[in-house]
Amino acid sequence: MQPSYPISSWEIVFPNDANAHNTMFGGKIMAIMDKMAGIAASRYAHNLVVTASTEGVHFKLPVRVGERIETTARVVWVGYSSMVVKVDVTAENFLTAERRDCTTAHFNMVALDENGKPTKVPPLEVKTPAEMHDYAVAEIVKKKALERKQNIEAEKQKSPRS
Ligand SMILES: CC(C)(COP(=O)(O)OP(=O)(O)OC[C@H]1O[C@@H](n2cnc3c(N)ncnc32)[C@H](O)[C@@H]1OP(=O)(O)O)[C@@H](O)C(=O)NCCC(=O)NCCS
Repeated sequence: MQPSYPISSWEIVFPNDANAHNTMFGGKIMAIMDKMAGIAASRYAHNLVVTASTEGVHFKLPVRVGERIETTARVVWVGYSSMVVKVDVTAENFLTAERRDCTTAHFNMVALDENGKPTKVPPLEVKTPAEMHDYAVAEIVKKKALERKQNIEAEKQKSPRS
């Protein structure tokens, strides 16, 4: 059993990070979240990891130019070679330090061995009520991701082009 510790990073949102509405471009936010998910997962697994899929990316509130953003990531569920990483982006006003919970997502990461094949990760220690809650949510996330993958593959098989 291995505990998982959150990691966090800070960025400043510059004008060249913005979309046409002068708020942070969603693709930039996702790139930061994906990078943080990868760092959290590889630290946990002591191995290289890749992103298999993402679930439930919610852009709840816009991030404004000039704000600071804090991105936190933690492994919240573990299978055999896969991990679910919960990532949250919080914006902070420069002057008032008011914080807003802006974006959340779950990233499905897979640990790979030196041959690029999925490899075992340590079982996760889940102790506190908050960890148990995150674990239960992530279990749904993982189930949905695999269902979606299977359904899409099944639909593709029915395509007249296949
Ligand atoms: C992710 C990848 C390694 C899975 O390979 P695969 O042959 O489907 O592997 P398997 O079917 O043996 O599954 C391995 C694990 O991945 C999980 N997995 C596979 N596809 C998944 C998906 N779409 N969503 C969530 N988990 C997934 C499986 O549930 C399994 O987990 P477990 O070992 O904990 O039970 C492979 O598809 C890949 O390399 N994709 C490219 C990744 C990439 O380039 N990412 C972007 C840059 S980081």
